[in-house]
Amino acid sequence: MSEKLMVTGAAGKLGRSVVTLLLDEFGIAPADIVAGTRDPGKLADLAARGVTTRAVDFSKPDTLVPAFTGIDRLLIVSTDAIGSRLAGQQAAVAAAKAAGVKGIVYTSAPNPHGANHPLFFAGDHAGTETAIFDSGLPYRILRNHWYHENFFMSLPAVVKQGTWYTSDKLGTKVTYVAHDDCARAAAAALTRPWAGDKTIYDITSDETFTTEKVASLASGILGKPISVVRLMPEVLASNLKAAGVPDFVITLMLSMDATNSAGLLAKTSGAVQELTGRKPRSLAAFFEANRTAFIA
Ligand SMILES: NC(=O)c1ccc[n+]([C@@H]2O[C@H](COP(=O)([O-])OP(=O)(O)OC[C@H]3O[C@@H](n4cnc5c(N)ncnc54)[C@H](OP(=O)(O)O)[C@@H]3O)[C@@H](O)[C@H]2O)c1
Repeated sequence: MSEKLMVTGAAGKLGRSVVTLLLDEFGIAPADIVAGTRDPGKLADLAARGVTTRAVDFSKPDTLVPAFTGIDRLLIVSTDAIGSRLAGQQAAVAAAKAAGVKGIVYTSAPNPHGANHPLFFAGDHAGTETAIFDSGLPYRILRNHWYHENFFMSLPAVVKQGTWYTSDKLGTKVTYVAHDDCARAAAAALTRPWAGDKTIYDITSDETFTTEKVASLASGILGKPISVVRLMPEVLASNLKAAGVPDFVITLMLSMDATNSAGLLAKTSGAVQELTGRKPRSLAAFFEANRTAFIA
């Protein structure tokens, strides 16, 4: 009998991509897929394809054991409630165990453990990973590096002003990854045979970048000059505040710069190719494919 696979957060970008890949690329029968979301009404298209949809809301812990009953392998997509999602994600892990789930895949962040972590929300991921480790269940943790797609938020302004302000340390190296490669790796992690796995994968592309190297790459592809200006974190924060950038975004930007400077995303891994059999998309290919979005 085939295993039943559930994807939580299936109305989000990553969750929806994983379900679509399971159907269209991985050849999983719709009857073996359960798409979990806070609002199943948003998944009518998947239901029309034969996928079962179920209400899954980590903020309603009492509902989670029934939601996970009958599921063999569970992909827990980390939620977007940054900084306040740990309790819900821990409840999801506990409910998975109680419901008889046989293996968990979780979308984590790079190197999330350790005291005084520079990434302010690393504890969400470290705590969820620890709950998974402590559950005794087989797992595949996917530590997704920064999405290429994050550049949709920052790069248009950089291109417009011709200057990239950063508070990272000179020479800091970072490895990014395509959202689509994260989704494909998650679909593969859910479906490839399990042998009691307890595996952690860093999900990265094949190349590391300094900020100057990203700026030079983007500049060449987009045909726009970009110079990098390095500022002390408190100066960058104050300039961003004066420019009207919301406090949460400032905190996020500085925290990511500090995490990058600590070298926590500095390494590539072969995990995307190992899991999916495909080379990860390069940052250059991402910029090429999205030229108009960056120079609009
Ligand atoms: N590596 C990176 O650079 C990076 C960047 C951004 C985000 N992330 C992380 O990656 C995750 C997936 O990315 P994405 O692009 O799919 O983001 P997204 O489209 O913003 O999706 C947010 C996700 O959070 C889920 N969610 C929110 N509240 C929930 C709750 N109470 N219970 C269960 N699920 C809940 C949503 O599920 P439903 O709407 O279906 O309920 C949805 O799947 C994000 O949630 C975040 O943790 C990583």
